[in-house]
Amino acid sequence: MLGAYGVTVVSVLNYKGGVGKTTVTANLGADLAYRGRRVLLIDLDPQASLTFSFYTADEWDTQLRPSKTVLHWYDSFNWSSSTKSLGDLVTTPPRVNALVRQRGGQLDLIASDLGLVDVELDLAAGLGGSRYQTFNPDYLTVHRLLADALGEGEFAGYDMILIDCPPNFNMVTRTAVVASQHILVPAKADYLSTLGITYLRRRLTQLVEQYNGVAGPAPEACINPEVLGVVFTMIQYAGSNLMTKIGNYIDRAGETEVPVFRQNVRESKSVFADAGELGIPAVLAPHATQNVEHDLKQLTSEFIARTRI
Ligand SMILES: Nc1ncnc2c1ncn2[C@@H]1O[C@H](COP(=O)(O)OP(=O)(O)O)[C@@H](O)[C@H]1O
Ligand SMILES: [Mg+2]
Repeated sequence: MLGAYGVTVVSVLNYKGGVGKTTVTANLGADLAYRGRRVLLIDLDPQASLTFSFYTADEWDTQLRPSKTVLHWYDSFNWSSSTKSLGDLVTTPPRVNALVRQRGGQLDLIASDLGLVDVELDLAAGLGGSRYQTFNPDYLTVHRLLADALGEGEFAGYDMILIDCPPNFNMVTRTAVVASQHILVPAKADYLSTLGITYLRRRLTQLVEQYNGVAGPAPEACINPEVLGVVFTMIQYAGSNLMTKIGNYIDRAGETEVPVFRQNVRESKSVFADAGELGIPAVLAPHATQNVEHDLKQLTSEFIARTRI
C-alpha cells in the first residue's frame, strides 16, 4: 500500500544494535540525494546516531532539541490526534546539502531525542502493555500514527523516505513498519546475526497478520511491507577474497526466505570512525577509500533497482 501521495517509505530495521543500520541509512540517503533524489530521513532511535551523523551535539542542543525532534510529535499525540504537524519538524542539514544541492538533490532529516524511550513506554501502556492488545480501540490509531502523518501532502515532494529504527520491535518500530512499503535489514555476517534474520522475519509476519486482522478485510486497509533484503555490513576481506566463514554465513542467509543484497559493505575502521564529525556520510566524504566508496555506491544502485524509485 503506497501512502496517499505515492512516496516510497523504507524502514531500516534489525532488532540488534551495532549492525550498521544507521550507517547504511545515512549513506544511502546521502547518495540518493547526490543522484538528484529528494530524500527524507527519519531518526526513530533514541540513541540519535543518525541525527548526529548530520548535526553536531551543539547544533542539536540549540537548534533541534527545543522544538525540532520527533519527540515533540509523538509527545503531542493525545490518543485522538496529534497537535503538532510532523512536517514542522523537518530540517535540512547544511553541510551535506551543500554537496547534494548542486546535483539537484535534497536530504532532509527529522531528528531524534533520547526522550523517545519514554514515548515507547507511554504508547505501549496505552495499548495494554507489550502485547499490544488487538481489541483495544486505539490499536489502529496508534499503529497508524506515522503512516497517516506521512500520507499528508507536505511529504508528497519526496522520492524516498528512509526510517532508521531503534534496535527493538517495540511500538515506535511498529509504527515505522506499518508506514513502510519496504524493509531493509542491515546485518553482520556472523552466526547469531544469521539466526536473528529468521527471527526478525517471523516477527514481521506476526505484526502484519495481527494488524491486518484488525484493519481488514478491505485490501486497501491492509499492509504488506516487503523485505527488500539483508545487507551485510562490516565485512572483512582476507586479501581480495571474502573470508570463508563469512561467505558461509552469507550463503546460509540466502537459504532463508529473506532475499540478500549482492552488494556488501566492507569493514573499514578508518573510514567509519569519524562518521558524523564532518556532517557528511562516508560515501560523499573526501577521505573515503575507493573500496568502501565503491561498496556504498553499488549498494545505492542495487537499492534503486530493488525499490524501483
Ligand atoms: N562497514 C563498517 N566498517 C567499520 N565500522 C563500521 C561499519 N559500519 C558501521 N560501522 C561502525 O559500527 C558502529 C555501529 O554502526 P551503526 O551504523 O551505528 O549501527 P546500528 O545503527 O545498527 O546500531 C558505528 O560506530 C559505526 O561507525
Ligand atoms: Mg543506529
